[in-house]
Amino acid sequence: MKTPIMKGKVCLMGAGPGDPDLLTVKAMRVLRASEVVLHDDLIAAEILELIPAWTQVLNVGRRCGQAGMSQEKIHSLLISAAREGHQVVRLKGGDPLLFGRVGEEMEALSRAGIDFEVIPGVTSAMGAAAAARIPLTDRRFASKLVFVSNHAAGNTPAAWDDVIAKDATHVVYMPGTNYGEIAAKLSAGGLDGRTPCLIVASATQGEQQIRRITLCELALEPCLPAPMLLIVGEVARPLPPFEDPAKPSPRATSEPHEEILHLTDARVKA
Ligand SMILES: C[S@@+](CC[C@H](N)C(=O)[O-])C[C@H]1O[C@@H](n2cnc3c(N)ncnc32)[C@H](O)[C@@H]1O
Repeated sequence: MKTPIMKGKVCLMGAGPGDPDLLTVKAMRVLRASEVVLHDDLIAAEILELIPAWTQVLNVGRRCGQAGMSQEKIHSLLISAAREGHQVVRLKGGDPLLFGRVGEEMEALSRAGIDFEVIPGVTSAMGAAAAARIPLTDRRFASKLVFVSNHAAGNTPAAWDDVIAKDATHVVYMPGTNYGEIAAKLSAGGLDGRTPCLIVASATQGEQQIRRITLCELALEPCLPAPMLLIVGEVARPLPPFEDPAKPSPRATSEPHEEILHLTDARVKA
């Protein structure tokens, strides 16, 4: 009887924005059974702690534009580990399908005949919006959602001016440190200076920081540390003041009681 050949496989996995509770159940299960993990630099320490002690772990990321391992070298490590029959995880921040060179990795794996699977993650825009308690779309004023990267490949400047729209929410990934340049692009694209704007750094992590400003204030705002993104659009406006139901507001008369009675009536009738 022939010994079955151990087949290696690569999982292109999203680690989410940082909070380990935001990992998917599938990601957690596959990570715990992994034999080799190649991860990006942005992966939170609490998530790396979930990797079993026997697993080979390698940081293949680049921090803040510094030269890291070449993309070709990452491809060859993924391919050789899978060819040795290992269960390999390529762990990326947020969702692996967004702004993370996953297309190049899929092409390399496919060309090499390596089986692979994608395990989605919570993208940082969603983590940031949840942390700031804003929606990303709103049927009243944002029917479009635009994710753009302010970082382009090579030396060509990132071009995204053509997608700026008044009824859209714009999320700028990798905004860099020149907020003035981004504010100018958004204003030139027709956005009003009063458009609400959020800067969210380390969303869902302990060091999380959130700044609420308007587009005209963006250029003057001190830069927050990476990882950080911008959310621009009416969705980013502050919520109405929180009304504590325990404290009767000065406006409270008999009206709210009447509303409650209506609701109760409706339930009784139904
Ligand atoms: C190379 S992109 C990868 C995006 C990732 N695939 C995702 O879905 O979030 C890295 C950029 O994502 C954003 N980012 C990642 N994690 C973040 C976090 N926890 N808080 C804010 N922005 C984050 C930053 O703009 C950062 O420069």
